[in-house]
Amino acid sequence: MLEILRGNLVSAPRLGALDVAERGYLVLEDGVIRGVFDKLPAQYAVAPVTDYGDALILQSFADMHLHAPQYPMLGMGMDLPLLDWLNTYAFPTEAQFADPDYARVVYRALAEDLIANGTTRVCMFSSLHTEATWVLMEELERSGVTGYVGKVNMDRNGAPGSLQESTDESVRETIRWLEGCRFDRVKPILTPRFTPSCSDELMAALGRLAAERGLYVQSHLSENVREMEWVRQLHPDCRRYWETYDKFGLWKDHTVMAHCVHSDEVERRAMHRAGVAAVHCPASNVNICSGVCPVRRMLREGVWVTLGSDIAGGDQLPMYQVITAAIRASKDRHIMDNGSTEFLTVEEAYYLGTTSGHRYFGAGEGFAAGDRLHAIVVDDSNFPRSGRPLSVTERFERALYLMGAKNIVAVWSDGRCVVKKR
Ligand code: GUN
Ligand code: FE
Repeated sequence: MLEILRGNLVSAPRLGALDVAERGYLVLEDGVIRGVFDKLPAQYAVAPVTDYGDALILQSFADMHLHAPQYPMLGMGMDLPLLDWLNTYAFPTEAQFADPDYARVVYRALAEDLIANGTTRVCMFSSLHTEATWVLMEELERSGVTGYVGKVNMDRNGAPGSLQESTDESVRETIRWLEGCRFDRVKPILTPRFTPSCSDELMAALGRLAAERGLYVQSHLSENVREMEWVRQLHPDCRRYWETYDKFGLWKDHTVMAHCVHSDEVERRAMHRAGVAAVHCPASNVNICSGVCPVRRMLREGVWVTLGSDIAGGDQLPMYQVITAAIRASKDRHIMDNGSTEFLTVEEAYYLGTTSGHRYFGAGEGFAAGDRLHAIVVDDSNFPRSGRPLSVTERFERALYLMGAKNIVAVWSDGRCVVKKR
């Protein structure tokens, strides 16, 4: 079925570039983009039009790193650095997800919060609990959020008795979880929590599973200086953190590594070479005092950089706020470096929060023909009066900084309209 969406279309085809179609047309056929046009081609004249008037039609967002079972502690407990923060706040919060009924309530609210804020693709950590992880996948699918979810593996340095598995149990439960994943739009990804949480034996078993079943892998990398020192003690044979994943076959194309704040040039080259996606989580990095990631430099070196909310180290779930946080973090870096490093532009940060993440799921650039539509419609009519007419590009910038869920009047995910307020 043909269908046409009309509005002010803004997409990011490349890093730093914007495609703008003012009062343009997006042609869909069965949820698949046929093209974006300034003037409607005659062949589509008979198709029904959904006219969003003067609203902005933007790409939806891809949140490439977040912890679902930390949603209950959102906005709290950010007074400790990473390793103490994990033991004091994160592990006890995650332990509660042994109860699938509790998981149902929390995960339904999380899924609704994500979709209402225009996040339609995720790469997400669950907890180590198999049942709760299925519940999470079900709730995401129900709300229209698509992507990858991982049952977390952790067989050491967790919270023994409440949040830690034996090695055997971790492998067995991972296989049971994989066999029970029968979802259309939410797929499993292997998720060793981070090197300090996983024995060599467990890492090796996950590496074999990844190879045998063609699964992707997600984890954390070089987030915090004390963490890195700990990893060096655990793996004296590895010169750098990334090698502890590589050793077990977990460092490969489409491996997702959160943070990479303190990755040096050699580690960044290893990412580039392997096709590893780095997830920059600007709010989390400041909240738990990890550092300020040299994100502009990583981009210059050709690293595949995406963005993540990393809740609940991050305090903001909406990706438009993560995008503006990334711009601010890069300016902090610029100031600290006495102006010798560049900061991210709005166009660049939008690209990182949209196209760069969507690419992980096989999508093309911007609103690419042949892709299933992932988009949001933003009504900015209640923003402050500007005193002069604004261009679509100016309105786009202001929307990223000022919008909230209430401004998002429609969400399209995987070619379907999943939120419709008008
Ligand atoms: N490293 C290992 N686990 C975690 C986590 O839950 N959050 C963050 N930010 N870093 C981690
Ligand atoms: Fe994280």
